[in-house]
Amino acid sequence: MLKIYNPRQTVLITSRDKIDLYGKSTIKDNIMTCDWHTPISFKPLYYAVSISTQSLTHSLIEKSRVFCINFIPETMKKEAILCGRHSGTHTDKFEATGLGKSECEKIDGPRITEALGYLECELEDIKAYGDHTLFVGKILHSHLQNLDKRLFHTYENDFTTTK
Ligand SMILES: Cc1cc2nc3c(=O)[nH]c(=O)nc-3n(C[C@H](O)[C@H](O)[C@H](O)COP(=O)(O)O)c2cc1C
Repeated sequence: MLKIYNPRQTVLITSRDKIDLYGKSTIKDNIMTCDWHTPISFKPLYYAVSISTQSLTHSLIEKSRVFCINFIPETMKKEAILCGRHSGTHTDKFEATGLGKSECEKIDGPRITEALGYLECELEDIKAYGDHTLFVGKILHSHLQNLDKRLFHTYENDFTTTK
């Protein structure tokens, strides 16, 4: 399909919850790459993300009911590809990318230290659409570090940026 709706800004979604791994329950901090996301309301502030039912992030957000949207610079292309091609089930993506992990302020979850800005969201609504689910989050806290050039996805491993 011709992706006429691209380029889209690529963000990293961070989430946390317990997962069962090799019969043991452990806390998982995860990072997932996402192009399909948008603000949808000013009052209250709502932000929506469309997430594949196959991803670990999907089950982490369903359980924890919180997530963080991290806006990233164009220099993070390699990290975005890694976080978008590997499942967090058997990979610690903070370790694999070397990205710094900070604690969110208003939700129990990780965020990316080097992000240009971030939105801490509490789940408001969930709706399934085909092979993805639309998660609508109420923004509880946001922070803008700076407005450096951001990463935009065109197709496959090709990215562009803002002026
Ligand atoms: C540039 C890029 C953008 C992506 N955008 C989305 C997206 O909007 N929604 C989605 O469900 N998956 C998207 N993906 C795929 C997920 O990031 C990928 O399935 C990832 O491995 C899921 O990680 P997890 O299983 O650890 O949650 C994207 C991948 C890339 C490389």
